[in-house]
Amino acid sequence: MDDGVIDLNGASRDAYSMPLEELSPADPELFRTNSFWPYFERLRKEDPVHWAVSSNPQIGGYWSVTRYNDIMAVDTNHEAFSSDPAIVLIDPEEDFPLPMFIAMDPPKHDAQRKTVSPIVAGPNLAALEPIIRERAGTILDGLPIGEEFDWVDKVSIELTTMTLATLFDFPWEDRRKLTRWSDVATAPPNSPLFEPGRGEEQRKAELFECVGYFTNLWNERAKAPPRPDLISMLAHGEATRNMDRTEYLGNLILLIVGGNDTTRNTITGSVLALSRNPDEEKKLRADPGLIPSMVSETIRWQTPLAYMRRTATRDVELGGKTIRKGDKVAMWYVSGNRDETVIERPNDYWIDRPRVRQHLSFGFGIHRCVGNRLAELQLKIIWEEILRRFPKIEVTGEPAYVYSSFVKGYTRLPVVIPARA
Ligand code: HEM
Repeated sequence: MDDGVIDLNGASRDAYSMPLEELSPADPELFRTNSFWPYFERLRKEDPVHWAVSSNPQIGGYWSVTRYNDIMAVDTNHEAFSSDPAIVLIDPEEDFPLPMFIAMDPPKHDAQRKTVSPIVAGPNLAALEPIIRERAGTILDGLPIGEEFDWVDKVSIELTTMTLATLFDFPWEDRRKLTRWSDVATAPPNSPLFEPGRGEEQRKAELFECVGYFTNLWNERAKAPPRPDLISMLAHGEATRNMDRTEYLGNLILLIVGGNDTTRNTITGSVLALSRNPDEEKKLRADPGLIPSMVSETIRWQTPLAYMRRTATRDVELGGKTIRKGDKVAMWYVSGNRDETVIERPNDYWIDRPRVRQHLSFGFGIHRCVGNRLAELQLKIIWEEILRRFPKIEVTGEPAYVYSSFVKGYTRLPVVIPARA
């Protein structure tokens, strides 16, 4: 049983009864209520390359691409589908642009990506592994036994924030600032994270605080010899050392959000998915060698970033439709990962499924996630350490979901770790 089929009454009825042309999946409320699944199921069947106009005027009209192979076709064609000016449907504000390399095209994208990618490449990951393992152990050993707590806050956020602080060599005692900036950067203005009516203003103020804080760190690192941390790499890298303040902020937000929300929501998703699929959990506990496969399956099942946006650079035919130059295109990874024509039993959480790494969650093409191995490493370590310690984690209530159609995740997951008999 999976969340792809939990609400066959309300959401499914609405999804199938509304006129197709009114169906606009980029509505954060559909994600907060976890009721978007039947909308995508209908689009895959009836209109896989779908035009809709959002009720949010900052989004306007956009295409939704919902089938696996069409998504691949868009993601691997960066000449026709540009990442500039944004990878979310809302355009950047003219007075507050945030240039970042995920929202750039070659050649600038390639040069900036190359500057930071060594931090998440093999040798550095090998050096990080024991650090992450020790921290994961400390977090797990500090959890309450026999009483309810929020897994999101106490484990998922804590572990990913610690890893991120390590990558930046960020002052340890202030590391929760990274969590806040990550949340603020992607939240819509009417998110509960902000005071009502002050979302945009508050967001800007907090991001200015972020760049101010990081500028001090930049100045320190630029004076010192190069070191293997992200700020030092940016400050010394040829393609990045002359960035202005907005580009520095943009790339910081990219690295903070990229490394934080996504992995955090996969860690929470793994606890939820295993608790809803006890037979899969039994398999895992009987054979911890299945952890890497379970990690990939969770990343598919969770799809922590629901979509990426592109903008057509010329008229292009896709699925029998003509996408016009300048049109916005959302590649709905969350839907492609449930495409029944490509993935066997896509709504099942099946930890040892064949071709488990065949999913869209990390994207494809020149922007494919640079941190994918680090994400998988964190997941692998936390589960190795969980299995060593706890025979059971009980989910004791429904999760609360993030109010966003971009970051797909959880704000809360109540759990209890039962005392050993
Ligand atoms: C499960 C965890 C993660 C998921 C699902 C995820 C997903 C993604 C996706 C979908 C993209 C864009 C791909 C495309 O447009 O084709 C991306 C890009 C990126 N990710 Fe991740 N990510 C994760 C973890 C991480 C981590 C741990 C880091 C960092 C340290 C990271 C850093 C980045 C960066 C820097 C980019 C931009 C790459 C480029 O534009 O060339 N991500 N990620």
